[in-house]
Amino acid sequence: AFTVTCGRSGGTFTVEPGVSILKTLRAGGMDLPSSCEEGICGTCETRVLAGEPDHRDFLLTDAEKAAGGSMMLCVSRSRSPELVLDL
Ligand code: FES
Repeated sequence: AFTVTCGRSGGTFTVEPGVSILKTLRAGGMDLPSSCEEGICGTCETRVLAGEPDHRDFLLTDAEKAAGGSMMLCVSRSRSPELVLDL
């Protein structure tokens, strides 16, 4: 499991194995857009303020993945114990 903190709205959520960040945040009451939920459309792309995403989408380039400036909440996870998102 890892923790996701919403840098703007202030909530902190624990993302359990097998559950997406998107589903976790929605279960916590956040209203977030999505479409494909398979990492191919980009609807759920969110800016990352801190932490190291574990990118599992098919959209970002390798350079974008390495830079870690944004991530797809429907499929990607975290390499660091905590992610801080621009939400
Ligand atoms: Fe399509 Fe996440 S909803 S990439």
